[in-house]
Amino acid sequence: MKQIRATLILLVFAVFYTSSAAQSMNNMKGMHMDAKDLHIVTKAVCVIYPTQGNNVTGIITFTKVDGGVRVVADLEGLTSGKHGIHIHEYGDCSAADGTSAGGHFNPMAKTHGSPMESMRHEGDMGNIVADNNGKAHLEYVDKEISLTGLTSIIGRSVIVHKGEDDMKTQPTGNAGARVAYGVIGIGK
Ligand code: CU
Ligand code: ZN
Repeated sequence: MKQIRATLILLVFAVFYTSSAAQSMNNMKGMHMDAKDLHIVTKAVCVIYPTQGNNVTGIITFTKVDGGVRVVADLEGLTSGKHGIHIHEYGDCSAADGTSAGGHFNPMAKTHGSPMESMRHEGDMGNIVADNNGKAHLEYVDKEISLTGLTSIIGRSVIVHKGEDDMKTQPTGNAGARVAYGVIGIGK
């Protein structure tokens, strides 16, 4: 009888120990995955808001694909025609006119250019074209930007300009005032 009781107590302890050990291992596994997620970002999102006196809104997604980052931008509230669009250095949208975002994101110290060339600021996205209803769609694979490392765009901002980026004038493309902006964050 004594032996049975001892075995039972042992069994209860064993079950308790095993389940709590499994629990803490699960917790550790969860923590490990969270830490890993911070280093392997595969999607980013930028919600676009108007600067003071403008009505431009929209969403831009950046998704890691083979050979680069797929950019999909949908904006509305623009005047019809071409508008310069860039990733700017700072994710700071505190200034009403967008100037707090700084200049074009340029970690490799290159000159301003077209998104289809390699000699360009990392932030050069070219132009987005709005129709007569003020709606614009842009979609391409960017071979320069990334979501991790030195050329990571996370924490930077996107600026949409009033005018066209000529892809020549240094260092801005002469695209004019900033009509909309948003901070680039890690996407789900
Ligand atoms: Cu810009
Ligand atoms: Zn530029």
